[in-house]
Amino acid sequence: MTELKWWQTAVFYQIYPRSFADGNSDGIGDFKGITEKLDYLADLGVDAIWLSPHFPSPNWDCGYDVSDYMDVAPEYGTFDDFKHFLAESHKRNIRVILDLVLNHSSDEHPWFLESKSSRDNPKADWYLWEDTPPNNWQSCFDGEAWTYVPERNQYYYHYFMKQQPDLNWHNPQVKQAMWDAVRFWLDLGVDGYRLDAIGTIFEDPKRKSHTVPMNLAELRRFSETAKTQDEIKLKDKYWHDMFKNQWGGPGLHDLMKELRSILDEYDGDRMLVGEDDNIDYMGDGNDELHLVFNFPLMRTERITPSHIRRNQKERLTQLEALPVKGWQCNTLGNHDTSRVYTRYGNKQHDADLARLHAALVLTLKGTPFLYNGEEIGMTDLIITDHTKLRDTMATWYYERLVDELKVESKEAAQRAGEMSRDKNRTPMQWSNKPNGGFSPMDVVTWLPVHPNYKEGINVKDQQHIPGSLLNYYKQLLRVRKNTPALIEGEYAPLNNTAKDYFAFIRKSEMQTILVALNFSETSLKLDFSRTREIKGHDLHILFSSAERALTTKPPRGLMINPFEVFIAEVR
Ligand code: GLC
Repeated sequence: MTELKWWQTAVFYQIYPRSFADGNSDGIGDFKGITEKLDYLADLGVDAIWLSPHFPSPNWDCGYDVSDYMDVAPEYGTFDDFKHFLAESHKRNIRVILDLVLNHSSDEHPWFLESKSSRDNPKADWYLWEDTPPNNWQSCFDGEAWTYVPERNQYYYHYFMKQQPDLNWHNPQVKQAMWDAVRFWLDLGVDGYRLDAIGTIFEDPKRKSHTVPMNLAELRRFSETAKTQDEIKLKDKYWHDMFKNQWGGPGLHDLMKELRSILDEYDGDRMLVGEDDNIDYMGDGNDELHLVFNFPLMRTERITPSHIRRNQKERLTQLEALPVKGWQCNTLGNHDTSRVYTRYGNKQHDADLARLHAALVLTLKGTPFLYNGEEIGMTDLIITDHTKLRDTMATWYYERLVDELKVESKEAAQRAGEMSRDKNRTPMQWSNKPNGGFSPMDVVTWLPVHPNYKEGINVKDQQHIPGSLLNYYKQLLRVRKNTPALIEGEYAPLNNTAKDYFAFIRKSEMQTILVALNFSETSLKLDFSRTREIKGHDLHILFSSAERALTTKPPRGLMINPFEVFIAEVR
């Protein structure tokens, strides 16, 4: 194989620590639990973990409101538990990247407590303070973006909850303090960072007001009720216009360069992946982020062959145009979005579609990121009792619906449950025991466990069923690992106008692989008679979800079954 970095060949797996594994039976995931499951992850075949925030936090935003960047939240264990987890991961050749929240801290962070205490303390300028709100900006989570503090008789800015004040990145001391934290974990041996919400770090310097004739709650409501094409277009425009001045202000490229240079001081190819889809933040391909997520792939109602082709063409062309070619990073789900199984299902063929989507992410060119639980087909759980919601942006919305918009409380609770990210953050389902084996029976878990753990949606049951989704993921991950062209090969789409199936080639110097994904419920005859790479060759089947014998066959008029995933080497 050509010289690729570990983060180009790796399959990443996102762990949401609160929900992954409860090692001390208190209803909340922790490092003891995660460490006990490392053999499971190794067996699954993942190479790297992205760990969502594990830092001390008052949990207004489930850990994305950090109150100490250099410690471990007590509910997740001790600092030694973290070190043990890291060492045990590395022992199994599993890398670990942490989540780095740069835009804001918690309002309980000592930096903010000091900053808000007076106008002339040493950290007075660590956050964004104004005498009066300079504009009508909204927080994307809880309404007004400027919140009053009596101690200073001033307002501070927050893009997210008011418990998440934005740091002032123009202040060199802020940078210094954050870079110390960055080094702290790198010194311990972590392999890199996933950078949270980088687009929100810098705002429009002119701080222009938005022009949308609604506030956040009204816009959310308008979006839910938009039906016609015009209304849908308008709501998209409103979302864009409401926040466009709060995003992508000047300064981010320099900041990313600075951060990159810190990582580059370390050995072992430490890496950065940005929670942003803007390829510009990869700089010249070698001086800013190593990866940005291909979010446009998942920003769609349905994953269709034409959507995938369009997306890949656009992204790969941009990546290849960088002075040092950029590397793709594909994903279909994370802790902020509806689960893949639910979101892209069609209620009739969900199980088949889930398999196609997994195969897509694992065979496209680029580094795949999986989200914990998707390998067993976990689905969204809509929590309609608003008192059980833990995602505060949803509880905020529930209150606004009832108090301000006079929506009846039952409907408000349904709406809040649907928009809440709790639905895709419920505890991992390890077995068919009570609480899905996440915590003992008598424990109340931090979010309810999805009751479908009783119906085979759990690790233990699926481990014993050869055709389970879990074993399907395992098999696919193995095929990927053993097939160099699936990792390093160039991508070339085939039969570009096909609406029902997506076929493409991954071609390296040594190997050519054909992947065919049938997105339809009928058998299809694929014609590759005009495909130079295939014509006159045999197809040696490496994987098929249709239980065909793994044989070598000439490809003339290849028949594929409904929803089949077909991977073959062209020989
Ligand atoms: C990112 C995180 C999300 C969080 C937000 C604020 O988008 O993925 O969970 O709420 O940033 O930190």
